[in-house]
Amino acid sequence: MSTRYRIEYALKADASTRPTDRMDQAVEYVGTSGQSLDVMARSAQQRYAEIFRDVEDLLLDHINQQAISNPRSKLNMLVPTISAFFTPLALEDAFRYQDSVRAISSRRFVAPSFNDIRLILNTAQIMAMVQPKPYRQLRVKLDPGLELMTFDGDVTLYEDGASLHSPDANPVILRLVHFLAQNVRIGIVTAAGYNQPEHYFNRLSGLLLAVKESKELSAAQKSNLIIMGGESNFLFVFDETQEHCLRYIHRREWILDAMQDWTEPAIKELLDEAQSAFESCIRTLRLQAKVLRKDRAVGIYAADQTKRLTREQLEETVLVVQQVVETAINTVHADQRASYAHIPFTVFNGGADVFLDIGDKSLGVKACQKWFGGIPPSSTLHVGDQFLSGGGNDFKARSACCCAWIASPVETVALLDEMITLAKGGSKFG
Ligand code: IMP
Ligand code: MG
Repeated sequence: MSTRYRIEYALKADASTRPTDRMDQAVEYVGTSGQSLDVMARSAQQRYAEIFRDVEDLLLDHINQQAISNPRSKLNMLVPTISAFFTPLALEDAFRYQDSVRAISSRRFVAPSFNDIRLILNTAQIMAMVQPKPYRQLRVKLDPGLELMTFDGDVTLYEDGASLHSPDANPVILRLVHFLAQNVRIGIVTAAGYNQPEHYFNRLSGLLLAVKESKELSAAQKSNLIIMGGESNFLFVFDETQEHCLRYIHRREWILDAMQDWTEPAIKELLDEAQSAFESCIRTLRLQAKVLRKDRAVGIYAADQTKRLTREQLEETVLVVQQVVETAINTVHADQRASYAHIPFTVFNGGADVFLDIGDKSLGVKACQKWFGGIPPSSTLHVGDQFLSGGGNDFKARSACCCAWIASPVETVALLDEMITLAKGGSKFG
């Protein structure tokens, strides 16, 4: 929810600051040249397409540079914080497709917005995975082709706090079954952390029962559906012989090497530190909130469900808890660092609550890749709604795989439909 708020805010900020420029130019242009809006739209489309083509080329250079030890791509110089790219992005084609849907270049007053760019990037990413094109400039051999899709839960598969009930109410279910039938593995990588399968069954019964009842899916394809709960803490595999269609997998069977030295006492100390930071926020900000302590997480939620915590309260709490725990880690106590200094954690604003979870979604996605025998980042797509660099838990997945940033379950369905059309060699993508 918070993501959607911020995306809309960014869009409004865009719309309120930039169009005047464009409007004046547009009015001037049409007024003085007498040219039609059609001509103007074609010229804008041409210019936008060239810009996307240029960025696509910059990315190819960046990917070539990634292969060498001290990369200095042009993109690195322009955007020092740019991260690794696992595939090229078909930006020009994606722009043309989204332009045909959203009429971006035909708009006279509203400039290309944050949401336009986000959707173009999503399309460019899936095009690169589902219908990769050969690039002459690319000097490294990539491993394209979609093998694994991971999905966030709230806001991505279902509305915030809601569930997947039935294929009629939740059209995403049939799309997920479709991908399983294509031998694509599916992992639901959610912050919601429980070690009991019934909690996940309550949220996902519509999907689990659809997979169970499917005549189309083989037993092997059904077992390609897994759930990684608590960011990277609890693994379940679909198993229709179990009461809740899920089999809990003990940690020793799947954890990453990086998790081997996360001892229980160190995890407890980290959660204790975070809990006291949450409690101090409740006092300082006078929050009507309760603390929830779990095996691998601690968080706060509104004490009275009819009185939601405000966005400001949630965001302040995220930043305070993050800072308190980081400061504790970096403060050298006499002769030793905090026992949990090596344990990654995620603090995020869930829209109605704030949680600190042990681990993060980059580890969650990597564990799914490992579970399926070592699927590479270039063949893995994570779909989620929380990609803002401060306070979004899906953001961490970006370092483990390719990503698509959606803003609602409706957008997730639209993305999956784009992928299905592309895989069929869809002509509407040109
Ligand atoms: P996600 O969007 O699927 O990652 O789920 C995030 C939501 O799960 C949070 O906003 C919480 O409401 C809920 N949740 C339940 N248990 C936990 C937990 O242990 N850690 C974090 N979030 C949790
Ligand atoms: Mg979410």
